Amino acid sequence: MAMKWEEVKKLAGRYDKHNFLGEYLKWGERFRRALENTPSINLSYETLYVVGMVGSGIVGDILNNCLGMDRDIRVVKYTRLPKYIGEDDLVLAVSFSGNTIETLSSVEYALSRKVNVVGITTGGKLAILGKEKGFTVIKIEEALAPRAALPQLIATALKVVLEEDDVKNLAEIATSLSQEAAKYGLDRENNRAYKLAYLIWGRLPIFYADEGYSSILHRAKSSLNENAKVNAYYQGFPEGYHNEVEIFEEIIDPVALPIIFKDKEDDLEPLIRHLDDLDAEYLIIDLVGKNKIEKILRAIVLTDIASIYLAYIMKRDPFEINVINKLKRMRG
Ligand code: F6R
Repeated sequence: MAMKWEEVKKLAGRYDKHNFLGEYLKWGERFRRALENTPSINLSYETLYVVGMVGSGIVGDILNNCLGMDRDIRVVKYTRLPKYIGEDDLVLAVSFSGNTIETLSSVEYALSRKVNVVGITTGGKLAILGKEKGFTVIKIEEALAPRAALPQLIATALKVVLEEDDVKNLAEIATSLSQEAAKYGLDRENNRAYKLAYLIWGRLPIFYADEGYSSILHRAKSSLNENAKVNAYYQGFPEGYHNEVEIFEEIIDPVALPIIFKDKEDDLEPLIRHLDDLDAEYLIIDLVGKNKIEKILRAIVLTDIASIYLAYIMKRDPFEINVINKLKRMRG
């Protein structure tokens, strides 16, 4: 590594004023507490609509990856819900702040159509609306920012939608999250998350995975955007076999850095073999965990923390999101 670890620590001290990295050491506990504190609510529905944007919206993507083959789940990141939503459906509205205009507008629409709504939030207008209109709102623990609150957001959502027996199996994930985050702290010199950040620095990361792990891809992009303020893009497979692979016709763009999240049973070998044929530089991140939810959350811990190290390297504060906030104000 070209940068001395002392220098990385100095950058962290200078640019991470809120100790955003420290949030990740709390993920395991937050996950555990959210599971314990969320009441069991008996819900039956035809279609589950999970509504929310980015740091909150990722909950819908993860639920869809984990449960979407067994039940009808639609992820909505928009101001409206489809016209065919009906009284037998359920809207799970996820908004850390409770003030996100797109989420609130979808909830208003659902209520106008007499659709059952459950809110997950720290408060804000969503909590007020819940009180006024009489729908269930589950309050989650605070965090420095929505994206840092993923454990309490996802654990709460899982508790709402899963059967009791399945919820019991989630307890182990809390421990696994704590262990994962502990590997990438500032006390672990040249750790894997830092190395990943260093590799990405000055490049355009392009994340690949089986479509069943699209939540990891989307999160990796959003975290690099919000924490390090850099560009990133992604492509799910097998769709990528029908378009994306054509960018690897000959020598690959030296700026592009393919990063492949690999699971045992996916169909990414042909892509990897082709990249080897080209002598292209790429990186494989093996997905590890006893089940899909654990694999997803552990991959997110690694790439989120990498995005924070990249912020340090680029002398940026991973917590500040000035442009998002400015444009939120402009949009009212
Ligand atoms: C900021 C962040 C954003 C928010 C998004 C929606 O940390 O992650 O992507 O999640 O602007 O806001 P909330 O989550 O409050 O509904």
